[in-house]
Amino acid sequence: MPIPAPPQPVVIADYGAGTAQNSMRPINAAIAAVRGRTRPEHSVLVTHTDTADNDFSTMFRILESDPESYLHKDSATFSSAIGRSFYSQILPSNSVHLGWSAWAMVRLGRAPMPVPDHVVAAYSNDERVRAAYARQAAHDWHEFIAFRGRELCPGGRLVVLTTALDDDGDLGYRPLFRSVVGALTELIACGVVSADEATRMSLPIAGRRVADFTAPFAPSGRFERLEIQHVELVDAEDRIYNAYRSDKDASAFGTRWADFLRFTAFADLGAALGAPDRLPEFYDRLHAGIAARLSAEPEPMRIPIAAVVLEKRRSSQ
Ligand SMILES: C[S@@+](CC[C@H](N)C(=O)[O-])C[C@H]1O[C@@H](n2cnc3c(N)ncnc32)[C@H](O)[C@@H]1O
Repeated sequence: MPIPAPPQPVVIADYGAGTAQNSMRPINAAIAAVRGRTRPEHSVLVTHTDTADNDFSTMFRILESDPESYLHKDSATFSSAIGRSFYSQILPSNSVHLGWSAWAMVRLGRAPMPVPDHVVAAYSNDERVRAAYARQAAHDWHEFIAFRGRELCPGGRLVVLTTALDDDGDLGYRPLFRSVVGALTELIACGVVSADEATRMSLPIAGRRVADFTAPFAPSGRFERLEIQHVELVDAEDRIYNAYRSDKDASAFGTRWADFLRFTAFADLGAALGAPDRLPEFYDRLHAGIAARLSAEPEPMRIPIAAVVLEKRRSSQ
């Protein structure tokens, strides 16, 4: 990536930062690499982006209080935030030297249609549902890289980690999603949710195959001024199962996965309930149902992820 002449700061953008807790290590690594090429007083500006309803107060508190925060490791590094969807241009053209986005592109800009027979389109038996989500995923990837292509400086790079689909269309997390469907079925039987409400519950997420990432670049290998430098599919480590292997605590195994879903997915499922006063009971019962199912038979999850690196061509190329 290019380093601007001082006093222009090196700009690192973290797209879909959440609390920024998980951004510390990659951003520290990036700053260490930058420092190999700059004077220590050359300023670095890290801008964390997320949607407007992200809890930016928590994010800034973590940036301040976490001992691993880059703010405590490098006195010429500054942080800022942007509360707008990354499916539009959110930073000035040619202003970002390095972009980073982890576990965020999995979420689509919109859910194209309900998934009546599952909570995840990739596991629906309805071909039309799977096709509609695949089209939305292709559209969103196209938009995401087009806007990042404007924001990156010539020579700038973008690194994306996101949920992948393997060649068999496997999105991973099968036992987890099975437990969600099982818990919802039980909640219908107990009258906590109606069958209609459960039918409307789905997660606006999609994985992508290698060919989906490369499609906008075909056939020349270029898309506007961007080039793909690297695409790789790997199975991410299942840390929750690894913890279970060492502590043998099946109950903690189920609870950890249920906690993960409470944080990442419950709000999307709860949106199908008309009355907000029903949400606490729904969330608690869903959490208990998922945790119980997973604890009964702890299994490792496959977690296919894609790592994609893009570069914006320099003007002379
Ligand atoms: C699972 S969290 C990941 C957070 C962090 N990047 C990490 O690696 O842990 C996904 C984040 O992406 C954000 N996100 C999803 N869609 C987004 C969009 N269209 N624009 C900006 N942020 C988005 C979510 O709000 C959420 O904070």
